[in-house]
Amino acid sequence: MSKQAVDNDCHMDEDSNILICVKDLAVAYQTNVAVFDINLDVYRHDFLGICGPNGSGKSTLLKSLVGAVKPFQGNIRLFNKDALKSEIREIQNRISYLPQIETIDRNFPALVKDVVGMGLYAQKGFFRGLSKEDNQRIFDSLETVGMTNLSERPIGHLSGGQQQKVKIARALVNKPEILLIDEPFSALDFKIAKEIAELLAKIYKETEITIVLVSHNLAIIREYCNRAVCMDRRIIWEGKPQSKDFDEAVQRVFHF
Ligand SMILES: Nc1ncnc2c1ncn2[C@@H]1O[C@H](COP(=O)(O)OP(=O)(O)O)[C@@H](O)[C@H]1O
Ligand SMILES: [Mg+2]
Repeated sequence: MSKQAVDNDCHMDEDSNILICVKDLAVAYQTNVAVFDINLDVYRHDFLGICGPNGSGKSTLLKSLVGAVKPFQGNIRLFNKDALKSEIREIQNRISYLPQIETIDRNFPALVKDVVGMGLYAQKGFFRGLSKEDNQRIFDSLETVGMTNLSERPIGHLSGGQQQKVKIARALVNKPEILLIDEPFSALDFKIAKEIAELLAKIYKETEITIVLVSHNLAIIREYCNRAVCMDRRIIWEGKPQSKDFDEAVQRVFHF
């Protein structure tokens, strides 16, 4: 019997439409294998929704894409560069990651515009002053999320939904090509969740951006994403969230 070579490599051209290519990825925390057998392509201008129950490895998958956790197996290519090697430095401003909600202390001593400016530090270094162009970028980013009127307010004084908009502005201030966003609705009530989803949809429509959204909110994934993945440590289903298949996959994955 001839041995079939396992193709673990991503084959992408320079101008490939595949911006993220994950092959045979597995990540463990000590002996707990959080995700395995992950194969996933994300295309230019995708709005990909990732759903799955608690502990199904959604956050781990996103973290692995930005090097926040190291896989013990597999390959990740971003913009056709090996994300697990030092090449990642060349592309760090092209991809932005907004982690799961952490509440901001009421007394956190930063103004809204400073929080957005923090998104520039990765590029500029913390102690460099902000130029006129930087301030313009901060303003533009706040304008995108409709928050310019609150730019001088302390971030801790804003509501949960307003803080989430500011964090989105921070994530966009470098004009990334890819936005990875983890559970942006989880601490928000229905109406505000919908408002944030509308905001993401507007950004998606008005720019070339590619969005990978991790969310429990199946209705939002169904309404706004063009592709979806259901996972339970590995990918169980992939397809159009508007299809009937999605509902069946969701039932299987969430054990409804
Ligand atoms: N920092 C960590 N240390 C140890 N185990 C972790 C850590 N983060 C996540 N895990 C474990 O990995 C699994 C997947 O977690 P996670 O990626 O956060 O899932 P999800 O985002 O889908 O809720 C869970 O079993 C969780 O307990
Ligand atoms: Mg999570």
